[in-house]
Amino acid sequence: MIRVGIIGAGFMGRMHFDAYQKHSARAQVVTLCDKEAARRIGDWRDAIGNLGDYGSIRRDFSSVKPSADYHELLNNPAIDLIDICAPTFLHREIAVAALAAGKHVLCEKPMAATLVECDAMIAAAEKTDRTFMIAQCTRFWPEYVFLKQLVETEKYGRLESLHLRRQAARPGYTLNNWINNPELSGGMILDLHIHDVDYALFLLGKPKAIEVSGVYNPQFGADRVYAFWHYDKNRPIVLEGFWDMPPDYPFNAGISAKFEHAAVHWDMASQKPLTVYLAGGGTETPEFPVADGYIAEIGYFLDCVEQNKKPTHSTPQESRMAVALALAEGESLRTGKPVDLV
Ligand SMILES: NC(=O)c1ccc[n+]([C@@H]2O[C@H](COP(=O)([O-])OP(=O)(O)OC[C@H]3O[C@@H](n4cnc5c(N)ncnc54)[C@H](O)[C@@H]3O)[C@@H](O)[C@H]2O)c1
Repeated sequence: MIRVGIIGAGFMGRMHFDAYQKHSARAQVVTLCDKEAARRIGDWRDAIGNLGDYGSIRRDFSSVKPSADYHELLNNPAIDLIDICAPTFLHREIAVAALAAGKHVLCEKPMAATLVECDAMIAAAEKTDRTFMIAQCTRFWPEYVFLKQLVETEKYGRLESLHLRRQAARPGYTLNNWINNPELSGGMILDLHIHDVDYALFLLGKPKAIEVSGVYNPQFGADRVYAFWHYDKNRPIVLEGFWDMPPDYPFNAGISAKFEHAAVHWDMASQKPLTVYLAGGGTETPEFPVADGYIAEIGYFLDCVEQNKKPTHSTPQESRMAVALALAEGESLRTGKPVDLV
């Protein structure tokens, strides 16, 4: 049994806690750490995010020890795995300390808000045999796993164009609103758009060039981006991200992909299933075995820990590259200069 300590019991801490319950035969959350007294005992009424309100669901916390200080978890030999769901500005500090303490570490995305911090995390991971992964959940999300399979197998021929989108109202849900301070969260480009940046890297590799258009807001940073990722001529790949809409605008993640012999369409906000539109007419709606990407990503991470292997499906170097490209897009929006592909 892998014993887990979650640090940061806000929106993502709650999502991860619930995902571990789906893996209860091999992992158990033994400690929940948060600075907020209510959250570390699982009162999640105000721990809401962009994927709906599950705060009122009742859970059994009888075997979960609350903690106010994350160092307690690092010093506790009864904890094998530290799951970091704290705000982005704490990722480096906690991950480096947890790896040095001999823990396996799963850390929420984005890896960190600067490349210097990412490098410190990678260096800490290289000094240990422990397993370290950034929770880039989109790679594990059923609809995106399906798209990856279509691109690899060419079931419907070659991918001819792709539009990945992530669209939202300005977030107002994190504790003390840290998410709206770009120095703490990295802003929209690192908090939201990074999902599609990381996924596009996973799907197609590093592009030859990126052109961006969008909005740079002096207070909030890059608030809106349309990024054109260039691979081959006549193969448009567009990544769209924004979180500058009015409060009731629904959160959406979406895919429109055109293959030689079919098109794929999905919008999370529509609550309709991903649909394949066949070139000869007619549609298909594939069924997906796993409910969401958090459950799948944690399942994969537990596999790696059990087999004592480094993740190959989402490596720290790839997570760093996603941060690098997202930051480069944001810098281009700020300066008006071309995207520097680092
Ligand atoms: N993968 C995804 O889909 C996804 C979605 C949302 C957020 N995230 C990421 O998850 C992370 C957390 O975001 P969130 O929305 O859950 O934020 P949140 O504000 O809801 O929760 C963060 C929690 O961390 C706690 N915390 C702060 N400092 C702490 C400390 N020193 N020790 C212990 N606890 C501390 C806060 O009290 C708060 O409860 C961020 O990095 C964010 O980018 C990922």
